[in-house]
Amino acid sequence: MKNYDLRDEVLARSDIVEIIGEHITLKKRGANYIGLCPFHNEKTPSFTVSPDKQIFKCFGCGKSGNIFTFLKDINGMSFREVLISLAERFGVPYEESNPKKHLEYNKKEIALQSLEFANSFYHNILYDKEGEKALKYLYKRGFTDDTIKKFELGYSLENWTALYDYLTSMSFKEEALYDAGLIISKTDSKRVWDRFRGRLMFPIYNQIGKVIGFGARDLSDKKDVAKYLNSPETIIYDKSIALYGIFNAKDEIRTKEYAILCEGYADVIMLYQAGFKNAIASCGTALTKGQLINIKRYTTKIYLSYDSDFAGINATSKAIELALPMGFDIKVINLPNGEDPDSYIKNNGKESFSDLIRKAVDFIEHLYNKANENNKIDSPSEKSKFIKYCVKLIYSIPDNLQYDFYIAKLSSIMHLSENQIKSIYRSKQAVIEEIEVEDNKNIYIKEIEIEEYREDNLLNEEKLIFEQIINDKESYNYCKNKLSLSSKFFYSDSAKNVYDMLNIIYEKYDNIATLFDTEIEELDRKILSFIIDNNFNSEILSDRWSDFADEDIIINKEKIINDSLLAIELYKIELQINIIKKDNNGIQEIEKLKMLSNLAQEKIIIKEAVANNNIEYLIEKYQNK
Ligand code: CTP
Ligand code: MN
Repeated sequence: MKNYDLRDEVLARSDIVEIIGEHITLKKRGANYIGLCPFHNEKTPSFTVSPDKQIFKCFGCGKSGNIFTFLKDINGMSFREVLISLAERFGVPYEESNPKKHLEYNKKEIALQSLEFANSFYHNILYDKEGEKALKYLYKRGFTDDTIKKFELGYSLENWTALYDYLTSMSFKEEALYDAGLIISKTDSKRVWDRFRGRLMFPIYNQIGKVIGFGARDLSDKKDVAKYLNSPETIIYDKSIALYGIFNAKDEIRTKEYAILCEGYADVIMLYQAGFKNAIASCGTALTKGQLINIKRYTTKIYLSYDSDFAGINATSKAIELALPMGFDIKVINLPNGEDPDSYIKNNGKESFSDLIRKAVDFIEHLYNKANENNKIDSPSEKSKFIKYCVKLIYSIPDNLQYDFYIAKLSSIMHLSENQIKSIYRSKQAVIEEIEVEDNKNIYIKEIEIEEYREDNLLNEEKLIFEQIINDKESYNYCKNKLSLSSKFFYSDSAKNVYDMLNIIYEKYDNIATLFDTEIEELDRKILSFIIDNNFNSEILSDRWSDFADEDIIINKEKIINDSLLAIELYKIELQINIIKKDNNGIQEIEKLKMLSNLAQEKIIIKEAVANNNIEYLIEKYQNK
């Protein structure tokens, strides 16, 4: 019946405190452990781990989850990778229940292995006689041996099948080499050959340092040869999320609290060598949302350092348009014309690049400078266009506290009063409508925001019930099976949502810790986060009942629920009474009195039910629906 045996088994054998304790220092505080959050920078610990519930929650950045979530995010692994690595670690035997998935998983594993072998093959050649030319090229470009080894740069031989021969001699099947993108063939031909020949090899690693593909540079600098050749998309290389340099950069990105995003492989490596170890690049593709989501695991601040040619300036604008709505802080590093970070550092030194970082400007200033340099804001109509573009960008930022700051900046740059700008754009809505009219392909239109989920409109009694059933499936079963409670009997909409969500959760899972492995819609995430918050705050409740013996606690668990539900019924009746009393026209006086007397009668029944712990009242009410 259960789909998640392996996961449950791993959860049962592992201890979240031990696992998280391998990454950060945890101190005991009451029933929980606390430490400095590894997902955002903080000086006082707000990262909390519950050994009882086997979950964590950071009260600073809001991140929460179980061991799977934690290891996924900290190591950039997939759920499956985490599951298997933990299963191996705790000696849980595993066998893929779905044979197709099993095959797929094996296929990926083997392709990864072939890439690892290919990588050392290329890297070793670089230091052989046959790779001398490539090694000299690297020295000439100013890369040291340490750097070359850190990035495992390599060389592919001119030979048509050098890698193919090597890997098949290691008993890799041809199919695996296709899967890895290492060999190619023509359709209708049996001949296969190496994809990369006679090129300088840049291995591309994923977050956990596994080679997933290659970038390969031509050394001849001939005009008719593509400068770079890259691995194709494969079952393991997803170009829309891969970032060159991320494995070497991730720790430094966390420490420095920003990433330097540049265009090229050589830029990342040169920046690293010069001490800017938080540099990454998108691998020969335009920046994507997936890559930004990837970066967001480590920081929400990006210094863009694209080439200062036409293509680079365009790419910078596109990156700004994409990153702002995702909540990134963007600064732009301004390189002199025709330079990239690699050439700039070589020509001017690292101190000079540090200066450029210090002088980096926000997106408004950058766009203004570039438009100005190119005489793009001379006429009133150009100015108006520019302002509109900036305002669109400003209003695409999710944090609306930033609007005033950027509007002020824009108005001072454009020598207009803030009111002049604001009067054109009275509201965010006006901007959105205007853009829609202007250009319906426009990408700045933000999706309609879902109404914020607010927990503050829950009744206290509703909270009390949730504290109880979130912590304890028995209590949930009691509500569901004994009382037949459905969500409509709650008073607030939020409570109705939470209860529906709990229904879904408990249908599938036995405890909160398993929740985090499922895909949950955005709104549901908010409810989930409410549920987690409550889990950590539930001490209040357990303290109150800790004086009782065990059996009493069981009885009292139900009583808390009963009393709370009855209190909600009372509350609803009070509301009805108020409405009837306020109503001046509509109903006849005698009718009103009759209704009020009925409601008063019901109040007495409920109060008696509370006094006698008589749940029949509730059962009857809920079953009649
Ligand atoms: N690129 C690519 N294919 C090409 C050219 C470029 O994939 N034919 C990608 C590579 O990732 C490259 C980046 O785009 O690193 C930037 O290209 P470019 O500025 O032309 O090269 P540089 O990185 O400056 O390369 P180098 O310094 O080695 O000349
Ligand atoms: Mn370059």
